[in-house]
Parts: sequence; C-alpha cells; structure tokens
Amino acid sequence: MLKSKIIKSLINSKNINGSQLAEELGVSRSAIWKVIGELRKDGFQINSRTNRGYSLESHPDLLTVELVDAYLQTQWDLLVFGSLDSTNNEAKRRADLGLKDRSCLISDEQTGGKGRLGRSFVSRKGLGLYMSLFLRPASLASELSFVTSLAAVAVNRSLSKVAGVSGNIKWPNDIVLNNKKLCGILTELSVEGESGGVQYLVCGIGINISYQDSDFPQEIREISTSLAMEGADAARAKLAAHILDEFSKFYSGGRFITDFDELRKEYARECITLGREVKVTGSFGSNIGRAVGLDDDFGLIVELKNGEQITVRSGEVSVRGLYGYVD
Ligand code: BTN
Repeated sequence: MLKSKIIKSLINSKNINGSQLAEELGVSRSAIWKVIGELRKDGFQINSRTNRGYSLESHPDLLTVELVDAYLQTQWDLLVFGSLDSTNNEAKRRADLGLKDRSCLISDEQTGGKGRLGRSFVSRKGLGLYMSLFLRPASLASELSFVTSLAAVAVNRSLSKVAGVSGNIKWPNDIVLNNKKLCGILTELSVEGESGGVQYLVCGIGINISYQDSDFPQEIREISTSLAMEGADAARAKLAAHILDEFSKFYSGGRFITDFDELRKEYARECITLGREVKVTGSFGSNIGRAVGLDDDFGLIVELKNGEQITVRSGEVSVRGLYGYVD
C-alpha cells in the first residue's frame, strides 16, 4: 500500500525528500508526486519546500485503512466502513466466514450500536470512534473475564497520549471524564458448548469524540460527554491505532498475558468505583455496599452493609453520586 507508506513517512518524519522516498519505496518520483496530489485532494495539508522536501501540516479526521495503518505499529487486519448496524455484529457475521485473529473493524457510524445489558449505544456519523477488536484466543471462556478491563486500560492510556486527557474507569466498562460517560466497552464471546473453549471474542469500543450536548438524545445528555465537550480533540485514526498498539501489549500469538499485577494496580488507580458506595443489581435483586477491591480477574469486591464480601463479575453496578445514582 503505497499511499499508506507515504502517509506513514509523512507522519513519522518532519521532512521527507521525494527522491529519497521514491528510492526507499522502490517507485518512481512521479508515483510519489501522484499520491501526494491525491492526499492533498483528500484534505491533507502537505507543504513542499525546495531542498527540504515534503512535510505534513495537518490531515482531516478521516477514517480510512491507510490512515489508521499509517499510525499503527503492530499487526492488525483493518476493515473500515462508512456505516454498519454495529461493528460487533459485523465482526460476528464475518467470524463464520473465517475472519482472522487480530482483525479490527471500524465504522464512521452505527445504526444499531449496542451497549451492555441490552442497551443501545448512540453512534452518530463522524462524531465518534466505533471499533471492534476481533480475536481468536486459545482460551476457555471462564478464563477471559478480564478482557473488558484490559481494553479499558488500553483506551485510557491511548486517550492520555493522543488527546491529553486522564479518564477514570467506572467498573467494569465505562471511561468517565468529569463524572460523565466518554466511552463504553462491550465484550462478546462465542463459546463452544462442549469444551467451553472460546471460538472468538469481539471487544467493541465506542468513544464520543466530537459530540456536542445537543447531539445526544435528551435522556442521556446529563450523563454523557465527549472529548470536544471537555476541550480536547483526537484524530480518530490515530486514536484507533494507539488503542490497538496498547492492546497488543496484553495479547499476542493468540494468548493473553498472565501477569496482571502491575496492570491491576494501574486499573485500580484509575477506577472511580473503588472506595465508593455502590448499588449492585442482579438476578438476586439489589444490594448496597462499598467497593473495596479487585480480585485476580478484575472482579469487583463489594463489602455489604452486614460486613459480608461479595465479588461481582457481571450485572449492573451503580456508583453513588455518578450518572444520577443518588438514593
Ligand atoms: C456500553 O456502554 O455499555 C458499551 C458500549 C459499547 C459500544 C461499542 S461501539 C463499537 C461496538 N459496536 C457496538 O455495537 N458496540 C460496541
């Protein structure tokens, strides 16, 4: 992909010399010139100065395979769409057609974006980053309850590097800025009934980038935020690539890392749920307690009012004072 290589060079070096680049990439100078012209048409601001070569001033917030790939340091198969019902659903549809481990699907909009517990995830065109990481880990389903937590750490690190914001994690799957929801994560598994082995895993990440208050439906306006609303910004292609690179530190060769000690500390530092009063809702009804820690698999340890400790792995955990939980 010549275009991707040229964008990568423009992103990684201050100035690139056309003839040198042509030689490095084994193409003619006019091939380079042609791609530079195409990029300029796409809105890339590329300066060219005699003796100094080309330099990239800025690029539009495009979502293309070439642009994500240009920022990417690790190996992923990228699929980018203009519109999908849901990147998680599309990954699942393609799973049976042989979608490869370490594929990533990104869409500019989702018409049926999904959240946890059967909720929807607002996914308006051009305003967010909606992506799904597709993996085929050699693991049992029972061994993978930590994946959403790893993704939350990868997203938080990337937001800090690319957008300069320090988010908090609301256990297990939201990233919160200024007490409002910036990002949600939904991990889905396909499991072989007999063995409990994982056929594939889809980890979907949705981040509100340039939403304004009025872009959110009335019912979630109070509890939602975006990078733009917090005075920050990020090129979606760059953010997506950083998330994939950060996630790669936890997963390679079909396996997840097994030593979580440092990661758990990092998660705990950023977790807004720990130390707070929480309401846990599940099939058993509702219980109030205090979130006191994380277990080995990032399960939330809650101390109930009667002193009993329970570990929560799924279901709803509301944090008192956050997202409108006040009773
Ligand atoms: C939540 O808030 O409960 C989780 C939201 C997850 C949203 C992402 S956007 C990309 C992927 N596709 C979906 O339909 N959902 C996830």
